[in-house]
Amino acid sequence: MNHTPEKLQTFLEIATEAALAAGAVLQSYLGTLETVEEKGRPGDLLTAADKAAEATILEILDRHFPNHSILAEESGRLGKNKSEYLWAIDPLDGTTNFAHQYPFFATSIALLIDGVPQVGVIYDPFHNELFRAAKGLGATRNRRPIRVSQTSELSKSLLVTGFAYDRRETADNNYAEFCHLTHLTQGVRRSGSASLDLAHVACGRLDGYWERGLSPWDMAAGVVIVQEAGGNVTAYDGSSLQIDSGRILATNGYIHHNLSTELMQVRPLSAWNNAVHSR
Ligand code: IPD
Ligand code: CA
Ligand code: CA
Repeated sequence: MNHTPEKLQTFLEIATEAALAAGAVLQSYLGTLETVEEKGRPGDLLTAADKAAEATILEILDRHFPNHSILAEESGRLGKNKSEYLWAIDPLDGTTNFAHQYPFFATSIALLIDGVPQVGVIYDPFHNELFRAAKGLGATRNRRPIRVSQTSELSKSLLVTGFAYDRRETADNNYAEFCHLTHLTQGVRRSGSASLDLAHVACGRLDGYWERGLSPWDMAAGVVIVQEAGGNVTAYDGSSLQIDSGRILATNGYIHHNLSTELMQVRPLSAWNNAVHSR
């Protein structure tokens, strides 16, 4: 269904209200945590801050959109399953960083309409940076328009990636890709917050990003923001992004084909299919 710019702007404003409120909650917990739980896999952490920030977001969205569906990292799927509107929420993206007081974390909120990410807000409360976009309305950082970089050669690019929590259990752990691209570029960062990685591609600080093992709430907001900043977002092989595939390739567009080719060379599709975990 097509929505008017005014309607998308309304969604964007409410998502912003929720992200700013959640960011304030995160800031209030920073450095005060006494207990950090593990969710199952080693290193997959859960804190009181994740839960409190998520509760804040859910309360605001429920007040404005009681009939919309929700997919929130800590609460799972909520609301009416048949709604065309699905909010994908990561209250604290970068929990490991947060638990160590390493200041690279964010709240990420996206609205998918009929399965397509159309509104995205990512808020980094430590640096007070608010990244926002809605389909057709452009992308902003602290309310000023942003564009992707113009780097057109892999050898001159700075990339970012990440390693999912199942990295100890699967040969498909992204280490081969990381080594290969570290040699071909000016560097590959691993910052620990997928949403902020995407936001930084959108505003031109980084030229490209790839990762596997993600969930929709990690990437949905960043997808809209990168696209609206003029970038390209696809699957590793350049085909259309599947939001629940776990894999994403997001770039400034100029290096997209070459980065896709290199990723496919390191680990072609046949190898993924044989991997223990194929996400
Ligand atoms: C994680 C971060 C990290 C990425 C992991 C994600 P969390 O999210 O985005 O950068 O490498 O795959 O799960 O657990 O901090 O919300
Ligand atoms: Ca996350
Ligand atoms: Ca999280």
